[in-house]
Amino acid sequence: MQISQPYGGLRLPEDTHKPLLFLAAGSGITPLRALLLDALERGWRGTITLGYWAQTRQSLCFAEQWQALQAQHDLLRVNTFLTRDPSAPAARINAESLAQLAPDLAERTVLACGPAGFVDLARTLSAGAAAFHAEGFTPPTSPASEHRTVRVELRRQGLRLDLPTDQPLLAALESAGQRPAHGCRQGICNTCACHRISGASRDLQRDALASEPSTSIRLCVHAAADDLVLDL
Ligand code: FES
Repeated sequence: MQISQPYGGLRLPEDTHKPLLFLAAGSGITPLRALLLDALERGWRGTITLGYWAQTRQSLCFAEQWQALQAQHDLLRVNTFLTRDPSAPAARINAESLAQLAPDLAERTVLACGPAGFVDLARTLSAGAAAFHAEGFTPPTSPASEHRTVRVELRRQGLRLDLPTDQPLLAALESAGQRPAHGCRQGICNTCACHRISGASRDLQRDALASEPSTSIRLCVHAAADDLVLDL
């Protein structure tokens, strides 16, 4: 079982008897899953509940793993909410869903991750919880720079590609037929991180240029800004 490092403001409490409530929306499931697996690995003694909002059954991540984990761990409950399910669309997070997930909210440490609007609402609804930790994100935007094409070398593959400067590198590489490892596509999980051996890229979240050699960049939130050499 592979466990990622804790990420951002999300940390498990020290006391493994504390009941936990994980609230995830969309790609926010990636870091919360890592924390949840970490808790199970540590033999957590408190109840663990996961509320996971996704649009459709197809966009639900790790569905089989949730079933298997529930079968293995008596204290784990996973509830999914499909907001664009064709037959019975679920409501977005609200007071009712929270009461259903955790009637004992005052005892729970809540860990929430998802788009900023989801996290803000989760924070408001969790006002009565024992503790609240969250990480929100804003999807990356396209760079302000005009469309250009630059040469991107994938050093390990011995490939040279002409890629646009107005798309995240992950999307540009996929359009060019490549399949770089990735997870959340939101700059959260670090799965797409790779070394920029040389050249310049633009951090789309900060709209900032970066050109220090031999630096790790996340392909989903960086665009090429000039000719680049990547350790891919
Ligand atoms: S895919 Fe998760 S950080 Fe890029």
